[in-house]
Amino acid sequence: MSPLAPEPIGGVLVGERFGERVRVRGWVLRSRSSGGIVFLRLRDRSGSIQVTARKDALGEEAFRAVEHVQIEGSVVVEGTVVRDPRAPEGREIRADRIDVVDSGEPFPIFAEQTEEFRLDKRHLAIRSRELVDTFRLKAELLRLAREFLDQEDVVEMTPPVLTGNPAEGGAEAFQLDYFGRPGYLSQTAQLYLEALLAPHERVYSLTPSFRAEKSRTPRHLTEYLHLEVELAWCDLDELIRFIERMVEHLAHGLAARRPRELEALGRPPAELEAIRAPFPRLSYADAIERLKKSGFAVDWGSDLGAVEERALTVESMSPLFVTRYPRELKAFYMLETPGDPRTVEAVDLLAGEGFGEVVGGSCRETDLGRLTRRIQETGNDLASYEWYLDLRRHGSVPHAGFGLGIERLLRWFARREHIRDTTPFPRTPSRHTP
Ligand code: 4AD
Ligand code: MG
Repeated sequence: MSPLAPEPIGGVLVGERFGERVRVRGWVLRSRSSGGIVFLRLRDRSGSIQVTARKDALGEEAFRAVEHVQIEGSVVVEGTVVRDPRAPEGREIRADRIDVVDSGEPFPIFAEQTEEFRLDKRHLAIRSRELVDTFRLKAELLRLAREFLDQEDVVEMTPPVLTGNPAEGGAEAFQLDYFGRPGYLSQTAQLYLEALLAPHERVYSLTPSFRAEKSRTPRHLTEYLHLEVELAWCDLDELIRFIERMVEHLAHGLAARRPRELEALGRPPAELEAIRAPFPRLSYADAIERLKKSGFAVDWGSDLGAVEERALTVESMSPLFVTRYPRELKAFYMLETPGDPRTVEAVDLLAGEGFGEVVGGSCRETDLGRLTRRIQETGNDLASYEWYLDLRRHGSVPHAGFGLGIERLLRWFARREHIRDTTPFPRTPSRHTP
């Protein structure tokens, strides 16, 4: 019957399409009816456009059906593109046929509802402009990361997410019953990437990581997307330079490819273009001195929490590297600083503008004896790390790596208040549904 192929709304919005017959499909953003004309704002993945339809063009029955379509109901429209100076895009589709696919029930989400209600209805709230823009940015960020790592000759690996080793501290691992034995949801893929290093030398993975932290903060999720890189023959300085190249590439790429979404979310793309390597570096010891001078009650050995990280970066747009932390603050696998057994070859990248840690990395301990001692000293079960120790028995080489929280990075780049709005279905201590 109708030979006209459906097309994206975005294509109807550009070029000299006036007088052409088009067919579009989508969801109703708004609708009203007056004086025998129905006005719809129709949305698809590519854009939105005004559609008008007269009762005499559709026929009585079809017109009534269209009038009953709710917000977020779905329709297929056929009509002619006409100039209309009153429409935001200077054009509209004058429809002579509208097929209602699902007229829908009244849409439950509207202005002035609590955040809790919106989170309960997250499966519907993800249709909002703001979240649509955010997840397009996220997809672009993942594409850019893979492109960058490919250019750098780093190979993607697929480590498991179910594991017997809680590598980042047992207390914060989600434990589960693995057929009668303890199992964990992975906190990091690092140990597996270290194993894959000998045959591949430069590896990365992009997997969900899980943290059973009861932290209700704007930067903690219990499930997040973790980009982890592990590089053979790499020291701390090379690691820092790799991280800085990557973060610069991601910032510039996002600014170049998604300026509209960034602008809409309140981040002018020029601010991301201004993120340029080299980023300033500060040793942990100097960070403590700087904080003391600003009146913080910290001493060598104090952990840097959200408040301290914020103080170190809030006045700068540039991110900041903090290096060589006390080993008591860090995980068992980190390499002791040569000539300073109190610290480890660790680096955190703190985002600009006070957004806090986005990357954590280090050189890895390669000495079998020291590594064994650290596993024991940190209260881990040596037997379950036997396989990891094997890596130090068979062709161990100097290596380093890091983990980057994709949602943390996106929160900073897209200037989101809360990390939950960088992921479609946020997992937090109080919520794992919908
Ligand atoms: O600093 P973390 O704990 O380091 C590791 O897990 C290393 N094993 C990574 C590695 O070297 N392969 O975590 C790395 C990053 C943090 O810098 C942060 O960006 C993110 O993961 N992250 C979280 N993101 C959201 N919610 C949480 N609860 C997070 N915990 C860590
Ligand atoms: Mg960390």
